[in-house]
Amino acid sequence: EFKQLVFSGVQPTGNLHLGNYLGAIRKFVALQESHDCIYCVVDLHAITAQLVHDDLPGQIRSITAAFIAAGIDPKQHIVFNQSQVPQHAELAWIFNCVARIGWMNRMTQFKDKAGKDRENASLGLLAYPSLMAADILVYRATHVPVGDDQKQHLELTRDIAMKFNMDFMQKIRAAGLGTDILVGDEPVHAYFPMVEPMIEGPAPRVMSLKDGTKKMSKSDPSDLSRINLLDDAETISKKIRKAKTDPDALPSEVEGLKGRPEADNLVGIFAALSDRSKADVLKDFGGQQFSVFKPALVDLAVEVLAPVNGEMRRLMDDPAYIDSVLRDGGARAGARAEKTMKEVRDIIGF
Ligand code: ADP
Ligand code: NA
Repeated sequence: EFKQLVFSGVQPTGNLHLGNYLGAIRKFVALQESHDCIYCVVDLHAITAQLVHDDLPGQIRSITAAFIAAGIDPKQHIVFNQSQVPQHAELAWIFNCVARIGWMNRMTQFKDKAGKDRENASLGLLAYPSLMAADILVYRATHVPVGDDQKQHLELTRDIAMKFNMDFMQKIRAAGLGTDILVGDEPVHAYFPMVEPMIEGPAPRVMSLKDGTKKMSKSDPSDLSRINLLDDAETISKKIRKAKTDPDALPSEVEGLKGRPEADNLVGIFAALSDRSKADVLKDFGGQQFSVFKPALVDLAVEVLAPVNGEMRRLMDDPAYIDSVLRDGGARAGARAEKTMKEVRDIIGF
């Protein structure tokens, strides 16, 4: 039975937070029944913004533990870390030569992460989306579950795939590779597929608890801005109670969340954690004050996150097991990636 191929990754940097969980990991878990899935700890990406890390092996194990604790089955699917499969870096180099500097300069994440001193950002930070395209396309994956912040990078992945397909069209045909696909109305003979982002859901971009206009992020200096996957119940409760809100009661319809980013964020989090729509949540809480809604959100967040937290801690006490998962996943991913790279080298003429 044919199943669509999913690829996604999480960087081994800092604490995993509720945004990573709702925007990415929870979706990874849900896709396992219907899709063939490859989930990667993207350690090559982790050195783009900060080169030297105190404990990169520990961070890699911690993300791996989070994947498994959340419910990803590493036997049925593939879990591994990026640096174990050098074909990612090899394809990224080729994509560096496909992509244009102008495309990279337009990436809002690069502008955000590089800050004011752009000339002094690493070249890797600029080329990050080209590595991300390689991560996905080295498996010729078609479906990519990510948070809304990655939307622009996935569009770039499509641009890179399209330019490669066009530039090498004759050689792809000559090698007997590729298939005819429709891009819009246009038939194209393609080696690399056009990836489909999977971003939808009630909380595609989880916002900071301190400032409803900034995304919840590992790099926010205020720990109160985010709920970490490893926070205990008391910490989760404190952070939600202190979360910024406005003084009004919750509206009974989604329309009423417009212009109220903090309320919108908390309702979205509630909806995502309970697998409901925001409209559905507001049916229960419309007309209620935050003094009623916040304790309900605390209970829900603790109920969902506590088992993941517990299992993650248990797994992190068994590094030999985690390492065996990564070795096994790396070997299986590597075999698939090499199959693509043999063909790509052939197409290019290496
Ligand atoms: P971060 O952005 O925290 O450094 P990564 O870049 O490793 O983390 O992202 C891992 C996944 O988590 C990506 O799919 C990303 O889109 C998702 N993600 C990160 N932050 C958020 C957020 N605030 N809301 C929703 N999804 C998010
Ligand atoms: Na990100």
